[in-house]
Amino acid sequence: MKNNIKIAPSILASDFSKLSTEIVALEKAGADLIHLDIMDGHFVPNLTFGPPIIKSLRKYSKLTFDTHLMVQNPDDLLEEYANAGSDLITVHVEACKNIEKTLDRIQSLGCKTGIALKPKTDPFFLKSLLDKIDLILVMTVNPGFGGQEFISEMLKKITIVKSIIGSNKIDIEVDGGINQETAKLVVKAGANILVAGSAVFGDGDLKNYKFNINSLR
Ligand code: DX5
Ligand code: ZN
Repeated sequence: MKNNIKIAPSILASDFSKLSTEIVALEKAGADLIHLDIMDGHFVPNLTFGPPIIKSLRKYSKLTFDTHLMVQNPDDLLEEYANAGSDLITVHVEACKNIEKTLDRIQSLGCKTGIALKPKTDPFFLKSLLDKIDLILVMTVNPGFGGQEFISEMLKKITIVKSIIGSNKIDIEVDGGINQETAKLVVKAGANILVAGSAVFGDGDLKNYKFNINSLR
């Protein structure tokens, strides 16, 4: 894999009427993870899908199911998302009453742990949690919808997160407005997992997925 950058297509931008076909096509096209944007209509104004969909998609792919919980009460839902087949569960620190307890719970359910930060959230709290985190998700748009404009101020935040991580083996994932131009910038700043919806699915022709994924690496 070129410079070990991983691509995690977000199925938010896929055709929801044929999700299993899309998942199989993404794996064939060289996706490294499948990014599942879970939205509850409260933490973010949008509503997407939940555990039953994940459960039904699980048998179609061996890829890491990277579940991004944009929900108001993640603690109440962790077990359902783990049992549905998530490999990695990322929660928004802004939605957690006790982030350490939440991370411990995710780990106890056998999933890798991720913390997501909205653009306005300061990253310095991460310092005390490094031993509990597998991935840090720096949102490069405000969560809620695909197809938004990349927030370039997040480049500085990615470099700060990188310096906070130091030599710890923690992935930096970015999500929102990632395309051929912004991919280069976020990788230079320190990101190694790129979530992309619009840039991968484009006009929905699955024959283009491989080219679209490779053009982000
Ligand atoms: C926002 C979503 C989007 C999505 C990617 O809450 O998380 O960032 O995954 O959207 P694109 O790649 O279309 O900007
Ligand atoms: Zn996401």
